[in-house]
Amino acid sequence: MTDPTTPPSTPSGTPYGTLPPASPLPQRRPVSLPRLQQMREAGEKITMLTAYDATFAAVADAAGVECLLVGDSLGMVCQGLHSTVGVTLDTMVYHTESVARGLRRVQGTAWLIADLPYGSYAESREQALRSACQLMQAGAHMVKLEGGGWTAPTVQFLVERGVPVCAHLGLTPQTVHALGGYRVQGKTEQAAQTLRRHAHELQDAGAAMLVLEMVPAPLAAQLTRELPGCATIGIGAGKGTAGQVLVMHDMLGINLGKNPRFVRNFMDGAPSVRAALEAYVRAVKDGSFPDDALHAW
Ligand code: KIV
Repeated sequence: MTDPTTPPSTPSGTPYGTLPPASPLPQRRPVSLPRLQQMREAGEKITMLTAYDATFAAVADAAGVECLLVGDSLGMVCQGLHSTVGVTLDTMVYHTESVARGLRRVQGTAWLIADLPYGSYAESREQALRSACQLMQAGAHMVKLEGGGWTAPTVQFLVERGVPVCAHLGLTPQTVHALGGYRVQGKTEQAAQTLRRHAHELQDAGAAMLVLEMVPAPLAAQLTRELPGCATIGIGAGKGTAGQVLVMHDMLGINLGKNPRFVRNFMDGAPSVRAALEAYVRAVKDGSFPDDALHAW
């Protein structure tokens, strides 16, 4: 009788786009928090992209993307929702498991971050920990949560319990209704000061990473200089951050709507998805993406 846990043998190719079998030895060292901190100190830009399934995760990893984010943007990208508000924790667990499985299959080395979705961490620090544990057990190495001020004690609670945390300030899509739309944040002196205070509080609470979304480039660069213990990852925040992130479908030019200003279509002139992802990694590393004149405020 055949063992149901053994993958079926496929002598000629792999069916249905199945991932290639894992090679016996990993080629590269897994990305870790100390490694990301070293990159930061050495001035090497950190690359991040969203991934929602096993195949794209494996391709992004092979292209050299250091961090993969199972973003709740999957609500729009995979589920056809109008915002991230409808994404549930169960859905995030499902996609995190898929991405983690894809990375395992190819002995991938990427650092895997999963979004805590709307309504899964605001009620109490205990609720946040329960939700974070589900994502960590699904294969995440770090969880991301949105907002400043009230989130700092939650971040500290998670970090003290061994859950690495990435914070997210600026345009926080889960609060799009409160913000009045997808707009640049931190434009006035007062808004910039509040954002700056929140960023410092999050670093002090132990957040090892901070996504800055649609924040004026000079403010993001200032925060990057001021926060040595917290790697800033920009999206529409200019080139002065420690790293960059984009939604993969946006940078592959398959966004169903209009791409935001901060996106470059890396499929332009690329012969394959893998080549487009490699071009993204190169452009972030050599500082040619983002171009502040085109992609920032
Ligand atoms: O959900 C997501 O994809 C994100 C990125 C846009 C940073 O939070």
